[in-house]
Amino acid sequence: MGEGVLDAAFARRDGVLHCEDVSAERIAREVGTPTFVYSARVIRERYRRLSSALSGIPHQLHFTLKANSNRAVLTLLRQLGAGADVVSGGELFRAQQAGFAARDILFGGVGKNALELREAVLAGVKLINVESLAELELLSSIAQELGATAAVGLRINPEVLVKTPHAYIATGAKGHKFGIPWDDAMHCAEAALRLPGIELAALDMHLGSQLATVEPYRMGAERIAELAARVTRAGAQLRYVDVGGGLPVSYQSGDPEPDFEGYAAIVGALARETGTELLVEPGRFFVAASGVLLARVLYRKHSGGKDYAIVDAGMNDLLRPSHYDAYHQIDAVRPSGATARLDVVGPVCESGDFLALDREMDDVSPGDLIAVHTAGAYGYVMGSTYNARPRPAEVVVDGPKFAVVTAREQYADLVRLEQSDPVWSDASC
Ligand code: LLP
Repeated sequence: MGEGVLDAAFARRDGVLHCEDVSAERIAREVGTPTFVYSARVIRERYRRLSSALSGIPHQLHFTLKANSNRAVLTLLRQLGAGADVVSGGELFRAQQAGFAARDILFGGVGKNALELREAVLAGVKLINVESLAELELLSSIAQELGATAAVGLRINPEVLVKTPHAYIATGAKGHKFGIPWDDAMHCAEAALRLPGIELAALDMHLGSQLATVEPYRMGAERIAELAARVTRAGAQLRYVDVGGGLPVSYQSGDPEPDFEGYAAIVGALARETGTELLVEPGRFFVAASGVLLARVLYRKHSGGKDYAIVDAGMNDLLRPSHYDAYHQIDAVRPSGATARLDVVGPVCESGDFLALDREMDDVSPGDLIAVHTAGAYGYVMGSTYNARPRPAEVVVDGPKFAVVTAREQYADLVRLEQSDPVWSDASC
């Protein structure tokens, strides 16, 4: 098959797929399958690419943990200079475990509960991005009670039309659950200026993921700039503008590549116009291309005129194909040279359990290893143990070295939190 998304970090040597200098066969032999394998080199390259595109603009890149919250990946990004962007108490904990200082952490999310807001204020995070007036009021009372002042960003829904490959990953259009509706934005800002325990420090937007063009950023930035001028007149001293994530990644040839120049021009102008530091929350762009999911072919089957490869990774390991109809290139780790049209399906008892449908790809036989590409973002983190399948292992490769950074889950882990002998509370007394 064509080399597609393979790049220097995932290339074939003597016909065998390698991640950097390590053979995928070696990793599968030592760690087993399914296993997520990440290239440190790709993450470094991606980080530097975006940093250099934004050089000249005062900015900070905050990696969005929801894309990949593995501690080793987070540590790598922190060492490169990234901050973190979290959306739950659990992600705040993970970021801190990976060594991020609270002052380098943004806390966002549409449904933070009182406990999570409290944790964020107590930790002293850099910014809490709030998404409604009700949340702002709750945060104000929590901050007051703790005798603290919370630096707040208002996540605005700029209500721009966003074209994403799947409706589930668009967020910045009118009527979405995310952000403060545009018409309520000024009212919320006035409340933020008035409420005790709140410093209105930023305006924030996130338009969606895998954005094919920079147009939505342009329209969103216009609205944020307009609002920034109004809130400044009302007395706010903004320190940041946060433009969220959304840069596209190429999953197959023909997919859009980021327009770095266009992007930098738009977000740079926004930072300049508002006199603030730019915050960016990249997730997918930093890690998607760094990862493959290694799996092994269990069986072949011919049914209803179709050819199936049944493999040992399923929708519980990589949900994207099934959930978003997402395309991930799949090829054999050691291609035989023959090709076939296959449905690549997992062991889960669901017809929706597939990694690829009707795909012209390397022909594979039982025992062969396959690599599912561009699986470093929204892969392991979206996994589950459905069908009581233990979660896969995670491996990081750096040059000739590789390390298991998450052990494969064991059967005992599946029942660890369950009570074999329940302690009953009696509601009748
Ligand atoms: N900031 C906020 C507020 C977000 O909601 C997201 C992603 C990001 C930043 C990072 O966006 P990125 O740079 O990764 O596009 N599970 C889906 C993607 C969901 C994205 C959710 N929000 C997928 O697998 O395609």
